Amino acid sequence: MKVSVVGTGYVGLVTGACLAEMGNDVLCLDVDPNKIRILEEGGIPIHEPGLDKVVERNVKAGRLSFTTDIARAVAHGTIQFIAVGTPPDEDGSADLQYVLAAARNIGRLMTDYKVIVDKSTVPVGTADKVRAAVADELAKRGSDVQYAVVSNPEFLKEGAAVDDFMRPDRIVVGADDEQAILLMRALYAPFNRNHERLIVMDVRSAELTKYAANAMLATRISFMNELALLAEKMGADIEQVRLGIGSDQRIGTHFLYAGCGYGGSCFPKDVKALIKTANGEDQELLVLKAVEDANERQKTVLVNKVVKRFGADLTGKHFAVWGLAFKPNTDDMREATSRVVLAELFERGATVTAYDPVAMAEAKRIFGDEPRLKYADSPNAALQGADALIIVTEWKEFRSPDFEKIKSSLKTAVIFDGRNLYEPALVKQAGLSYESIGRASIQA
Ligand SMILES: NC(=O)c1ccc[n+]([C@@H]2O[C@H](COP(=O)([O-])OP(=O)(O)OC[C@H]3O[C@@H](n4cnc5c(N)ncnc54)[C@H](O)[C@@H]3O)[C@@H](O)[C@H]2O)c1
Repeated sequence: MKVSVVGTGYVGLVTGACLAEMGNDVLCLDVDPNKIRILEEGGIPIHEPGLDKVVERNVKAGRLSFTTDIARAVAHGTIQFIAVGTPPDEDGSADLQYVLAAARNIGRLMTDYKVIVDKSTVPVGTADKVRAAVADELAKRGSDVQYAVVSNPEFLKEGAAVDDFMRPDRIVVGADDEQAILLMRALYAPFNRNHERLIVMDVRSAELTKYAANAMLATRISFMNELALLAEKMGADIEQVRLGIGSDQRIGTHFLYAGCGYGGSCFPKDVKALIKTANGEDQELLVLKAVEDANERQKTVLVNKVVKRFGADLTGKHFAVWGLAFKPNTDDMREATSRVVLAELFERGATVTAYDPVAMAEAKRIFGDEPRLKYADSPNAALQGADALIIVTEWKEFRSPDFEKIKSSLKTAVIFDGRNLYEPALVKQAGLSYESIGRASIQA
């Protein structure tokens, strides 16, 4: 099938590459010439495990190519995926300008039947806006070319995006046009071989499904984070509580990890956008407002623990920070807890040496030539001369550290662990103090 993908970011590039892998002829469009240049030169503009191989293989096979030429992309695909960003507007609602610009481009230039697929996460009612934008462009040139608008939200996780796309839990298609549903079924058939994963529903329900999924996951995290704060006060251990409730099949084990707050390009923005959508309908979402507030508070928990030990004024203090990405296996730092932690530390007069396996280039882009922030090329190098270690992201390489080395490198033998990576007794044995989330404070 001929497919165009508009927007070649985390979602668009993975979608394009994986659809090409199944034999489709895919053209990816982006307005960012730098991204397209990197891809055309054989590079990958983002860090996503396994993606480079899929891209390379399919470019070589002639099934995957990249362009900044809008007319070429519109002409290419019968199916036109819109996978552009939907960042939060100033008021928290989803900013649809990129989605609608992409829709207008399609309407302005299409000359045959198109299935226009909203893959970006967009509020309920966006398909109608996309339909209207296309209709408006067609009307301007007196064209009656047929088209359908479909909602096909994406559920992939950054860091496991290729796997998620190749083996999805479900594929949601919101559509009311029979021909479009037929084409979407055919496109996704190869991802659907051992059991039916495609759920066809009405467009609005599909749009809401995406927000409902992210809101539910964010709720589980904030719920556990809130209980973690209580556990600390009550002398309980949130990790034991997690095991205790996760074994209940009605609850399940996923997304029950207490930590220093969720970040990333999706949960924070999607929770905000859903609250905003509901406000527009005069329907307050009380649970989700609390989820968001709890998360904002949770992002400050690590620095509060630092302040408790070192005092509010951290002038002259220097910290090693392990992990900058919002989660492991990605270089994405959008809404990352590390950004709040660093800002708070700087505000209080501290300096930082940070280490992250892949996100340091992104951090340099964000923080520019911030004089209070240095980077190290290994976790151990970051420790040199630091007063304490702060762990923000649960990268695998932080999981079994040399505690002796940590102890001998730090001025004060203390770890602030925002991801509960270690068994407290082991850390204590190594002579280190240990502050984690929802567990008793360990003094060396
Ligand atoms: N990142 C995720 O894990 C994830 C998962 C599921 C859903 N989503 C949703 O998917 C959408 C895209 O997210 P992302 O993380 O891939 O964003 P991204 O910022 O990585 O990529 C978006 C790309 O679109 C390009 N673009 C913007 N306007 C364009 C236009 N008119 N024509 C062509 N290209 C254009 C940008 O240059 C950018 O490269 C968002 O709505 C997001 O909420 C993201």
